[in-house]
Amino acid sequence: MIRTDLQFADVAQALEEGFSQTPKRLPSWLFYDETGDKIFQAIMHMPEYYLTTCEYEILQMNKGKLLCHFKAVQSPFNLIELGAGDGLKSEILLKHFTEARAEFIYSPIDVSETVLQQLVGRLQHSVPRLSINPINKRYDEAIELLQQDEFRKIFLFMGANIGNFNVKEATKFVSSTSKSMSPGDQLLIGFDLKKDPRLIQAAYDDPHGITRDFNLNLLVRLNRELGAQFQLDQFHHYPYYDPETGMTKSYLVSLKNQDVYFEACDKVVHFNRWEIIHTEVSQKYDMPMIDELASRAGLEVVDAFFDCKHYFCDVLFKK
Ligand code: AVJ
Repeated sequence: MIRTDLQFADVAQALEEGFSQTPKRLPSWLFYDETGDKIFQAIMHMPEYYLTTCEYEILQMNKGKLLCHFKAVQSPFNLIELGAGDGLKSEILLKHFTEARAEFIYSPIDVSETVLQQLVGRLQHSVPRLSINPINKRYDEAIELLQQDEFRKIFLFMGANIGNFNVKEATKFVSSTSKSMSPGDQLLIGFDLKKDPRLIQAAYDDPHGITRDFNLNLLVRLNRELGAQFQLDQFHHYPYYDPETGMTKSYLVSLKNQDVYFEACDKVVHFNRWEIIHTEVSQKYDMPMIDELASRAGLEVVDAFFDCKHYFCDVLFKK
């Protein structure tokens, strides 16, 4: 059974918190409703969005090595995937681990119920012997829930999902994950690396307008779920990569002075002309930043895996 927890109240609260800040912001989990999931799938298929192909290559090339690391301690493990998404990448590992007769269960965690349902449905066919324990929660809540079971934990946090945190938040998140880890537990994180700024810019500012639609879908969602009256043609999407900090920031820019009414909360939100809504951070890393993150979180780097172009890196940490 899939546990569903994300409700109207979460969206309303996200809005309340996000829009009372300067600049106004929206949390990145809000992207992933049914439409958002579909648009993100399309993003992953764009030639400009190199991240997916790179990590696919890394996992394909290193699935054997990864299993050796995971099995270094001789006991069954719970493979806990934070933000499982469509699970196409994890499937590489799950197939290999099952064929190698490793003893483990798979606990995919995702905020999107649809995505989890599809994932479970597909894995039942593609990896029939797999035992799956899907959890429809946010990471923090799910990790707390999993504290109680006795299995050794291997956390997967792939797909550059960590990029949605800025460095400070990432440190906090990895530290708290680290606190829930016991000796023998491991954590695999996928980092998108700093590279030619134009390549990164193009990945978030694609010529097809797919990433634009991904961002505008936030407003569509608020229109539907909170009865908001955003006019989509009165906002532009603007992503910006800063090679100095390694941070890509995405914005929706208000094209005019406007009031937006939210029926469900009976309130009006004002936007000045050119005022922004900060929608997303996609943080890029280099190796010194990753080492720093590990040491601040009290973790040790076990191994690091790269694609042939060194665009992306999956790093394995232990307590
Ligand atoms: C799912 C967070 C890894 O930041 O690269 C893709 C989301 N946003 N294009 C990323 C995203 C715009 C993606 N992550």
